[in-house]
Amino acid sequence: MENSITAPEREPASAEQGARRPWGGEQKTARCLERAEPALECDQTGVWHVRAFNEARAILRSNAVRQAGFKAEVLTRLPRLMRLPLLFSDGQEHQHQRRQTARFFAPRVVSEQYRDLMEALSEQLIEKLRRRRKVDLSRLTLEMAVRVAAEVVGLTDSLLPGMARRLEAFFRYPIERLSPDPRTWLNFLGLQWAVLRFYWLDVRPAIRARRRQPRQDVISHLLAQGYSPREILTECVTYGAAGMITTREFIGVAAWHLLEQPALRQRFLLAPEEERLTLLEEVLRLEPVVGHLYRRTSQELILAGPAGEEQARIPAGALIDLHIYAINADERLVGAQPRRLCPGRPLHGERVVPSLMGFGDGAHRCPGAPIALQESDIFLRRLLALPGLRLERPPRLHWNELICGYELRDFIVSLDEEGDSRSRVEMESAATGMATAPREP
Ligand code: HEM
Repeated sequence: MENSITAPEREPASAEQGARRPWGGEQKTARCLERAEPALECDQTGVWHVRAFNEARAILRSNAVRQAGFKAEVLTRLPRLMRLPLLFSDGQEHQHQRRQTARFFAPRVVSEQYRDLMEALSEQLIEKLRRRRKVDLSRLTLEMAVRVAAEVVGLTDSLLPGMARRLEAFFRYPIERLSPDPRTWLNFLGLQWAVLRFYWLDVRPAIRARRRQPRQDVISHLLAQGYSPREILTECVTYGAAGMITTREFIGVAAWHLLEQPALRQRFLLAPEEERLTLLEEVLRLEPVVGHLYRRTSQELILAGPAGEEQARIPAGALIDLHIYAINADERLVGAQPRRLCPGRPLHGERVVPSLMGFGDGAHRCPGAPIALQESDIFLRRLLALPGLRLERPPRLHWNELICGYELRDFIVSLDEEGDSRSRVEMESAATGMATAPREP
């Protein structure tokens, strides 16, 4: 599953650019430099490729497509023995589930219900760093993301500690399809074992506790709807990938950018919440954790061009590959230097959010976006405010085939006692430079 990748070589910023930089650094995680054109094309195998924002949005909002990413089609091809998890269902069944679960994800609920937990968790994790002086940040971000999502889902009654590692284990066993190769069978057995452990130690105790006393969480809701333990387990695994793994990587990549740019770090620490969240969304635009979304047309889909003319006809049954790195760098929307961080960059389009397609769009758009942004903000503010914090070793980049996204590992940060005062001076001078820097690209 993990294929090592190397970040593409970048031109160093020119002195002139550096001097008036309200900008952050260059993109770090793209597997290769994606071309921007053509906006829409069909390859020789009949797969349609989308690299522009407006076309992508029209497709994701259309009723003529269904989910085809995250190996959804492997599951939907099997005999229907159970209800599909939210991420894999479509049409009315999907709409119904979205409406029913919306109350767990509304921004007001997130702020009121989970803020204290996020603050307390961040404090615990930062305390670990204070004690040890040097940590692998990717372990702290995993712990943070898993514990927050676990609370929303209701996975809070585990028999043993270590749920984060049990969830991580799912991604260690890649299986495309079963074949005579013994490695596939070993992976298959490894995966079954990981799922069984997760069920017995985490999911089953949560179900039992909620049967006795329902709470305000997703598992209680699913039980009330008559979901079986197997259906609940599948939904929990999906949340593991959709909510926990993604947020872990996102917090990591945002920390990486901010640690490398003292001026930006200082600005983040001083800015009001709205500006901080915009900055984080710009990081997600530039470094989308989910690098490709896939859809299959259930009927012919006609796409209109800017003047309403017919632009393309995608036949029924076609697979569509939405290239999120290219879409999020669409210069028609984001302007110049699309592969560079520029918080608050003007966006040329109607009702476009700063993360563009970082959280998807249309029926499957991520319901967990407010949770992910709030917890990242809370954790990063505490982390980056630590005097003497520095990047000891930048993370190694890997690629996760399931979510088509990057993984950051061995991301070593340390607390430098001697550097406390030096780093404060550096940050203060960076902030002074920032105050005079022009905001527009
Ligand atoms: C930075 C962190 C996150 C990123 C980048 C992210 C990204 C995404 C994307 C791109 C999709 C759309 C998939 C598609 O259209 O095929 C999605 C769906 C989803 N996300 Fe997130 N997500 C994040 C955090 C979360 C969190 C914290 C939760 C819950 C606790 C969550 C739960 C879900 C669920 C349940 C879906 C499926 C929605 C549906 O199919 O209707 N996500 N996410």
